[in-house]
Amino acid sequence: MPRVDLLTSLPRLGEDDVLAVPVGTDATLPPWLTSPAFGTLPAVPGRLLAGALADTGNTGRPGTVTNLPVAGRRPRSVVAVGIGDGTLPHLRSYVATAVRRAQTLAEHGATRLVLPLDTALAPAGADEVRAAVEAALLGGYRFRETSKPHPPRLATVAVVATDAADPAVAAAARAGEVTGHAVAWARDLVNTPSNTKDPAWLAGQAVERLAGLPHVTVTVLGPEELAAGGFGGVLAVGGGSASPPRLVIASYAPPGAGASHPVLVGKGITFDTGGISIKPNAGMREMKTDMAGGAAVLAALDAAARLELPVAVTAVVPAAENAVSGSSYRPADVVRHVGGRTTEVQNTDAEGRMVLADGLAHARLSLGATVLVDVATLTGAMKVALGTRTAGLYATTDGLAGALGTAALHAGEQVWRMPLAEEYAELLHSDVADANNAPGNPGGTTAAIFLRPFAGDLPWAHLDVAGPARAASDDAEVVKGGTGFGARTLLRWLEAGAPVDPAPATTH
Ligand code: BES
Ligand code: MN
Ligand code: ZN
Repeated sequence: MPRVDLLTSLPRLGEDDVLAVPVGTDATLPPWLTSPAFGTLPAVPGRLLAGALADTGNTGRPGTVTNLPVAGRRPRSVVAVGIGDGTLPHLRSYVATAVRRAQTLAEHGATRLVLPLDTALAPAGADEVRAAVEAALLGGYRFRETSKPHPPRLATVAVVATDAADPAVAAAARAGEVTGHAVAWARDLVNTPSNTKDPAWLAGQAVERLAGLPHVTVTVLGPEELAAGGFGGVLAVGGGSASPPRLVIASYAPPGAGASHPVLVGKGITFDTGGISIKPNAGMREMKTDMAGGAAVLAALDAAARLELPVAVTAVVPAAENAVSGSSYRPADVVRHVGGRTTEVQNTDAEGRMVLADGLAHARLSLGATVLVDVATLTGAMKVALGTRTAGLYATTDGLAGALGTAALHAGEQVWRMPLAEEYAELLHSDVADANNAPGNPGGTTAAIFLRPFAGDLPWAHLDVAGPARAASDDAEVVKGGTGFGARTLLRWLEAGAPVDPAPATTH
C-alpha cells in the first residue's frame, strides 16, 4: 500500500511524479491550475494544460481519464480525470481512477501520484479528504500470488487540499488511512484461496493482526470447546471437513466506554461446496468468498481499535468449511444450537444461517451484547433481488435500520432495507424441530426470519452481502474480487457511537 502524504499546496514535481488534474462537469478546471501559484510546475503552464485538455475532449464525467502531453517529462505524466460535480461518490471515482492509472505508470517508473482535491466548486474538507484517502488505498488495491516478482507499485500518494492544515482534515486523513488498510486486510482474507484459508488459518490471521492492539483480546474456540458450549450449528456444518471449525471472538474494550456493547457476527464459511446438497460446478468456485462477512466484522473491529473509538465492540466469526465427506451433516438431521433452539436440516447448502444462529445466541447469552448486527453472504436470492453493488438490510427496529443506513451513506456503501415480513414465518415450520433451514422464497427474507429468534429481544440487524461482497470487474474503488463490503458501514456506525434509536429531532 502506498504511503499517504497530506499537503496544503502542490509540491515541486519531478520526473517520477504523476499529476492528476480534476476536471469538473463541462470541462471546468480547478482554479489553482490557472493561478500564479501553479508556477511550481513550470513545464506545464495552466493555459497550455487547459488547451491540451480541450483537445483530449475530457468533459469531466466521473471515471473518465485522458493523458495530457507534457514537455520534458517533469512530471512524468499529467492525467486529466473526471470529477463530475465533486460529490463524494464522484470524488471517490476521480481518486480511484487516478490511482489506477498511476499504478499502471508505476510499472514504467512513476513512484508518486500527486492528487489535488480542490475543485472549481469548493475546496475539499474533512469528508472529501477521508473519502479520497480511502478511495486511493482501495482503488489501487491488488491481490496476487504469482511466481513472478510483482511489478513496481506507487510508493506515495500525495493528497493536496488547501485546508489540509486544519486538524479536522488531518484527522480525517488518518481515519481514511486506517479504514483503507482495514478494508484491504478484509479483501486479502476474502481473496486468499481456500486451500490456504481453512478455519484455523482464518482464526490465526485474526490473532496475528488484532491480538497485539491496545485493549483488544482475541479468543479462539476449537472443536472441543465448541462441543462443550453447545455450538451444534458450527459443528454440524464444519463436521464434513478435514479442517475442523473455529469460533473467533475479538473484543475491543477501551477504558471509559459506555454501557452499550454492539456485537458484530460475521459468516465465516471458508469454502461452501453446499455439502451433501452439493452446488453445481459453475457457481462453486465463487464460494471461497463465503467468509466475507467474517472478514468485514474483523476489519471493522481492527479499524475501531486503531482509531481508539470510545465504544466497546466485539466481533464474532463462526468459521467452518462446508465440505462433502462421510462425516458431513445431512438433510433431515436435527441440530441443537447455543441456547437450545433446534433446526431441521432441509438443505445442507443453507449452512450460513446454521453457524450464524450459534454466533448470535452466544453473543446474546454469554458476551453481554446490547445490540447485534450480523453480516453474511447468505442468499443467492439477495444477489438476484439487489444486484452486486447493494446489500439487503433487515432490522428489528427503525432506529437501528436508520442508523446503519446513514452509516452506509457516509461510508460510500449501498444498502437497501428489506422487510422482515412475518407472513412468511409459517414457511419455517418443521414437524420435528423449532424451524427448518430452507424455507423457500423469498429466500433473503425467510433466511432473515430464520435468524431473528437467535437475537432474542435485542435490537438486531442483518446485512446480506451475497451480491456486493465480491466484484466481477473493477468499478471506482471496487476492485475485481473480494470487496471488503460492510466493514466501512459498520465502522461509521461505531464512530457514531453505535446508535440504536432514531437520531433525536433537532430543536431550535
Ligand atoms: N453462500 C451461499 C449464498 C451465496 C450464493 C452467496 C451466491 C453468494 C453468491 C449460501 O450458503 C447458500 O448456498 N444459500 C442458498 C440457500 C438455500 C439452499 C436455502 C441459496 O441462496 O441458494
Ligand atoms: Mn451454502
Ligand atoms: Zn454459504
